[in-house]
Amino acid sequence: MKEATGASPAMAQWFAIKAQHEDALLFFRMGDFYELFFADAQAASAALDIALTARGQHQGQAVPMCGVPVSQAETYLARLIRRGFRVAIVEQLEDPAQAKARGAKGPLKRGVVRLVTPGTLTEEALLEAGRANFCTAIVAFEGKFGLAWADISTGQFETEQAGPDGLTAILGRLDPAEILASPEIPLGPHAARRVETARMALALPTNADAARRELAQKFSAASLDAFGDFSAAEALAASFVLAYIEATQMGSQPRLSRPASAGLAGQLAMDGATRLSLELASARGGAEAGSLLASVKRTVSPAGARLLAGWVTAPLCKLEPLLARQEAWLALRESGQAEAVRAALRGTPDMARALGRLALGRASPRDLAAIRGGLEAGTALAPLLPKGGALLEEAAAALIPAPALLATLQAALADPAPLRLDEGNAIAPGFDGELDAERALRDDTRRIIAEFQTELAQRYGVASLKIRHHAQLGYVLEAPNGAVDGLRAYPELQLRQGMANGARFTHPELSDLDRRITEAATRAAARERVVFSWLVKQVLEVAEPLAACAQALALADVLQGAAQLALSGRYCRPELSDDEAFAITAGRHPVVEDALPPGTGFIPNDGDLTPTQRLMLLTGPNMAGKSTFLRQNALLVVLAQAGLPVPAEAMRLGLVDRLFSRVGAADDLASGRSTFMVEMTETAAILHQAGPKSFVIVDEIGRGTGTRDGLAIAQAVLESLHNNNRCRAIFATHFHELVQLTEALPRLKAHTMRVKEFRGEVVFMHEVVEGAAQKSWGVHVARLAGVPDAVLRRAETLLKAAERQQNASAPLPLFANLAPPALPSGAQTLLDTLATLDPDALSPREALAQLYRLRDEVRKTHSGPAENDG
Ligand SMILES: Nc1ncnc2c1ncn2[C@@H]1O[C@H](COP(=O)(O)OP(=O)(O)OP(=O)(O)O)[C@@H](O)[C@H]1O
Ligand SMILES: [Mg+2]
Repeated sequence: MKEATGASPAMAQWFAIKAQHEDALLFFRMGDFYELFFADAQAASAALDIALTARGQHQGQAVPMCGVPVSQAETYLARLIRRGFRVAIVEQLEDPAQAKARGAKGPLKRGVVRLVTPGTLTEEALLEAGRANFCTAIVAFEGKFGLAWADISTGQFETEQAGPDGLTAILGRLDPAEILASPEIPLGPHAARRVETARMALALPTNADAARRELAQKFSAASLDAFGDFSAAEALAASFVLAYIEATQMGSQPRLSRPASAGLAGQLAMDGATRLSLELASARGGAEAGSLLASVKRTVSPAGARLLAGWVTAPLCKLEPLLARQEAWLALRESGQAEAVRAALRGTPDMARALGRLALGRASPRDLAAIRGGLEAGTALAPLLPKGGALLEEAAAALIPAPALLATLQAALADPAPLRLDEGNAIAPGFDGELDAERALRDDTRRIIAEFQTELAQRYGVASLKIRHHAQLGYVLEAPNGAVDGLRAYPELQLRQGMANGARFTHPELSDLDRRITEAATRAAARERVVFSWLVKQVLEVAEPLAACAQALALADVLQGAAQLALSGRYCRPELSDDEAFAITAGRHPVVEDALPPGTGFIPNDGDLTPTQRLMLLTGPNMAGKSTFLRQNALLVVLAQAGLPVPAEAMRLGLVDRLFSRVGAADDLASGRSTFMVEMTETAAILHQAGPKSFVIVDEIGRGTGTRDGLAIAQAVLESLHNNNRCRAIFATHFHELVQLTEALPRLKAHTMRVKEFRGEVVFMHEVVEGAAQKSWGVHVARLAGVPDAVLRRAETLLKAAERQQNASAPLPLFANLAPPALPSGAQTLLDTLATLDPDALSPREALAQLYRLRDEVRKTHSGPAENDG
């Protein structure tokens, strides 16, 4: 049925729906297309690069329109969502045939069946397989922030409470696809993901007790306490995120597991800057390649990849759960079953996400097949898992949750299952008698047609007579030219259409057959839908055990990956404790190691921060490996506290409560912070928060300002880390002068990167040794980088002059006198002044001031009073 648009009733319907979903593009179903109109059409055609057309008139103007075929809607949706659009799917709520039958005038009934938003996706095509997709709500309550996040594609549902500092750290960890937060809540770098819920007629919950009751009821518990301790802020956020998700699903209930407070797990605290600099799950530019996760990933299933990402981005600081993780992969390694487990898990379908779609009534036969595949994998895996602690026991208990369901699915579902239910043949023959009967009838009529064709050919004496299906005419007889005249003589045959080489006739018996075939096909399809729904219901009845099975499969995958790492002989089990130990033997940076060209081995280094020397001052030439060493120690802490093996020969670690990494220069111009401002903000965070159990890496602090300011700041920070924070820290710097501080600060120890000099060239050994660097070899590295010769020669001359002058002058009282020396009068003193000048230590402004003073002095000496500079 074609509907008119423009000033038509369908258009009025469009306006009514649009008024309720102003911030979403309407995908307005018209037959086989989703059509977009007006500004929606303009935005979508630009974003999707599809043709913008016009249709009908509205207030004298042509209505801009574009459309996407329903069969390809997912691809287009994916692109729109990635570009930050929200889409309201408007479906026809009645069958055009039914509407016709009830004699309805006007447009078909239509309504929004779902709001597609970045944080509420379930389709494989719209999701990243290895990453969770969180919708997060933040509620400010009594000076705290309550956060709750849910991934409706897997059912994960968690909460946490945070202060202002913790908020961006948690957001950095979750990297939510969508954030519900009122405008006054600061979201930092995640501000672009904020959703304006105000427009959705969603009230921010304010009554914590009501929120608790509502949550308890939703998850069928007498009280929320049954699931753990939730603060008022957390309960409010949880109820808010649930309300939003329900609003987007238009009444469909997603399957969510009971809420769990993530704060209780006891996590290693890391702020946003630290996360970013350590590149835990995504490297610069957002890709996983080049991240820590990519280096240690040995999982073989999407669910395993997601769980591993969860471990790596949210390391713990409690001994017990970490020892449990270690125990589990050690047992797997010792059992010799790791490879078999890996084989059993390879190709395991994504059961959790299939379950998510099944719960929302959005499932395809493939999703049922995923449940079947997951259950089969669980059955195969169960006998392979060794005994070894609580985690393995729990996993083993969850792996065979529903043998009866598995048997049913194996019997009922075609293998392979078709992509879509309406393709037919999703249900295997032999499972449902009624379906088989309808199908037999349908297929039988096909046989009847063949027989009928033979019969008619004989009846009319035309051997080449064919029964064909025609789009408009239905079943027809096709006769060749030579037979047409003869056939016209039969009254029951009606000539309907001439062809180049013959003609088409209709026949009453054929029309009758036609009807029977369509009816049988329709009945078979209907019956197939019934059987399918029944299967879906069977699955949802055991949704919780199935979710637990999916979780167990993911866990087994992560554990086998850890066992593989350990089996490689290049990763070891770190020895964890609650003290302040820090001793890494032959540690390596897994990402830098992976990136090195084959044959160039990574040089392992020890990282030793004994309680008596918990602060390491690291100097060394450019390109020597300082930054690599710093990060490597931080990454090993992350891996150790994720419960995973570490790339080292041995490691002893007293659990770190907070990890800080201040590396490299980055600006944040968008939020009004210059490069140096960012550096100092991050430094301030460290000085305020780091404690005796923290671990801090600081790379080249004080580089973004004048040398004297920078040196002074670096020294003061180092002193504070030593005396006040008393944390374990590695401090890399090119301010070689700082090495002298080891005399005053007993727990500070100087280390340097070993280099070999050979005929004025330097060979980097990438080896950390005790001692201090003499020079930075910056000009040498500049040459390696391809700086033009003339510039290099000039730099060398300047460097030599500076070195001569430094050698000639008495050792500088480096930290005592940071003010520029006053200029004495007289020619000899003039030369003395020049000799003590340190051009490298002057800001351009200071240098200019000195130059003026020197010139004035010269003029005074040689020609009397100075002229006015004007
Ligand atoms: N332990 C190592 N073994 C092998 N190669 C290494 C090692 N450490 C570093 N490298 C190589 O040296 C390069 C430079 O290292 P890095 O950036 O850590 O130097 P740096 O001392 O911080 O230099 P700069 O002072 O210029 O910041 C790395 O990209 C890597 O290719
Ligand atoms: Mg560096």
